[in-house]
Amino acid sequence: MHVPDWAGPLGEAYRLALAHLTGLPDRPVDSGAGPADMRVALGGPVPEVPTPPAEVIAALAAAADPGLVATASGRFFGFVFGGATPAALAADWLTATWDQNAGLYATSPAAAAVEEVTGGWLLDLLGLPSHASVGFVTGAQMANFTALAAARHEVLRRAGWDVEARGLLGAPPIRVIAGADRHDTIDRALRFLGIGTDAIVAVPVDDQGRMRADALPAALAGGAGHAGHAGHAGPAIVCAQMGNVNSGAVDPLAPIVDLAHEAGAWVHVDGAFGLWAAVSPVLRPLLAGVERADSWATDAHKWLNVPYDSGLVFCAHPPAHRAAMGVRAVYLEHAGGDDRDPLDHNPEFSRRARGFAVYAALRSLGRSGIAALVERCCTLARRFADQLGAAGGVTVLNHVVLNQVLVRFDGPDARTRAVLDAVRREGTCFMSGTTWQGRAAMRISVTNWSTDEGDVDASVRTILKIADQLVSP
Ligand SMILES: Cc1ncc(COP(=O)(O)O)c(C=O)c1O
Repeated sequence: MHVPDWAGPLGEAYRLALAHLTGLPDRPVDSGAGPADMRVALGGPVPEVPTPPAEVIAALAAAADPGLVATASGRFFGFVFGGATPAALAADWLTATWDQNAGLYATSPAAAAVEEVTGGWLLDLLGLPSHASVGFVTGAQMANFTALAAARHEVLRRAGWDVEARGLLGAPPIRVIAGADRHDTIDRALRFLGIGTDAIVAVPVDDQGRMRADALPAALAGGAGHAGHAGHAGPAIVCAQMGNVNSGAVDPLAPIVDLAHEAGAWVHVDGAFGLWAAVSPVLRPLLAGVERADSWATDAHKWLNVPYDSGLVFCAHPPAHRAAMGVRAVYLEHAGGDDRDPLDHNPEFSRRARGFAVYAALRSLGRSGIAALVERCCTLARRFADQLGAAGGVTVLNHVVLNQVLVRFDGPDARTRAVLDAVRREGTCFMSGTTWQGRAAMRISVTNWSTDEGDVDASVRTILKIADQLVSP
């Protein structure tokens, strides 16, 4: 076996990684280069001859550096991005080093077992049923996809249709009942699944983007009699949301589950970030009823601060989950008995061993550490809202119930957008924009484990200074 110089490139990578991480507090958060600069820095002719690995790593880092956004920074508040805690990041390095194929027990007993153990811990921490099945996927998009595949299986099975064998042509139509302000990954998952977005029955939402439970009966009744039972919604899936991507609002789960189950519908919960609030005894009441849903999607790369990519899917009906995802091949060595092959729970075949980093995150933070992280982010989000809301000419548009804050600067939409652009260029912090109820808004998401009061206060000072300078665009 050829034994290369591991220490050269890995030593270089370690040195560069440490320089990046320790430099985060002083680095402008937004990237200093656009796509054109990056093409020049990284481009060139096809490499015709080998280059020593350590040299490749040094050159790659030098070329990429100006185009990196400091998403791991405690002053990155864009989209809903988490950073990476030290234990999770270190476990992720080992995951790449070990290079396990996490599809089967046979290809990595360690990777398969770590998913089983971590899955059990997650169900306990999130307060979900202990019998639920767990899948480790790339993100909430694929978690929504996987859960909705299980839902598709089950609602059609109950209607006497085997979708895995027969497909959807000629199948009883499925209705997907979802809040009008659902995340777009629900629609995208329905496209992937062949259900299609026309199947969506949009339920009106309130001023925070929460599904209106009082409007749900009418939506469910739209398909009444479909399967021949009065009061039965026919094959139907209700998609609820824990954490609106803009406002952070949480759907009223308890009445949603009651009404949906009464009508025979499956309830899926998209809790990409909001589901983590379940770990906090203070925030848990906001999610009342969540444990009675049929499936759940969340991310580890958001609030748990595991490096990209890492999503999680849970299903209260393990046979439906495995019917939708399971696979058998003559050349594979499938686990027998109670042993769980990971590939029966996610859409991939060969796959990175994502469980190691999630395991490390849970062990290093512990229940109390996760609760503290989530609560701290919510407190800091309120600090943003209080300080910005107290300044003249700034309006906080949402009720800050979790880690999301929406603000708008007096004047036309263009002024809010101009403030946002200028803040990003200044470099102290990074926020992203959105359109909330038809009006431009700055969107602040406090999701990083390392953010502290000083980061919020420095960011607020910058935002207000820039807003003062930009009286009109
Ligand atoms: C509610 C919700 N669902 C789904 C997603 C998609 O998550 P991912 O990008 O991890 O696939 C997001 C992303 O922010 C989200 O907020």
